[in-house]
Amino acid sequence: MDGIGFMYEKVNMSEKCAAIILAAGKGKRMNSDIAKQYLELDGKPVLYYSLNVFQKSFIDEIVVVAAEEDREYVKEQIVVGYGISKVSQVVTGGKERYHSVMCGLRALNRCDYVFIHDGARPFVDDEILARALDMARNKGTAVAAMPVKDTIKIIDDNGAAVQTPERSCVWQMQTPQVFLYNEIYSAYESMLKDEEELFKRGVKITDDAMVMEMYGKRKVYVSEGSYRNIKITTPEDMEIAKILL
Ligand code: CTP
Ligand code: MG
Repeated sequence: MDGIGFMYEKVNMSEKCAAIILAAGKGKRMNSDIAKQYLELDGKPVLYYSLNVFQKSFIDEIVVVAAEEDREYVKEQIVVGYGISKVSQVVTGGKERYHSVMCGLRALNRCDYVFIHDGARPFVDDEILARALDMARNKGTAVAAMPVKDTIKIIDDNGAAVQTPERSCVWQMQTPQVFLYNEIYSAYESMLKDEEELFKRGVKITDDAMVMEMYGKRKVYVSEGSYRNIKITTPEDMEIAKILL
């Protein structure tokens, strides 16, 4: 290996990558008694699948965020039960997704990159993680995403179509969303200071990229996700997930 290659390897070896896996949502749109991240796919809970992918990857540490009443079950049945040894903590989440992300960020040990992932996306894979890390190394941010297949319309309050964005410019955001830890932490801190103001303006924070776009100093770049990397949201998604499996 030449000198530059060697240095590149050294830099990568000292880099620490962590992940926050979000599982503190109530899954209202799923309309089931059991929260969607704990529904079973082929005998294993949805949450297991993404944890297993991160466990087997280059990620060094995983923090899981769950509802207070589910923490024991997650620790015993999923983390210990399936040997997900990279999980350092299972912490309690908050009311909104962004609160849960902050709980995860606070719990993490020092790291360079943080991969924030929805526990409701069981079909993340090695390639998605590798492409995201690559982009994050180049640009400082990376969000897994795919171009939309359908035409998207902006609809007004009366349900009338008012605008049709050029399809090739419209992408659907997925997770993981990858950032430098210090940068996303301070962006989240600023956003939370502004929470009341955002609420008054009717701004809903639905992903991490939004926080970086609004409060961070860096642009958010997309990296190729996958059309299989669906988020389990409504009952049909469980049927699709069974087929994908
Ligand atoms: N999430 C979380 N804490 C919250 C809300 C959401 O950790 N307060 C997590 C969910 O568990 C899920 C991911 O964020 O893995 C994506 O959110 P979403 O699909 O909206 O899940 P829910 O909020 O649970 O579902 P719904 O919006 O239908 O209630
Ligand atoms: Mg939600």
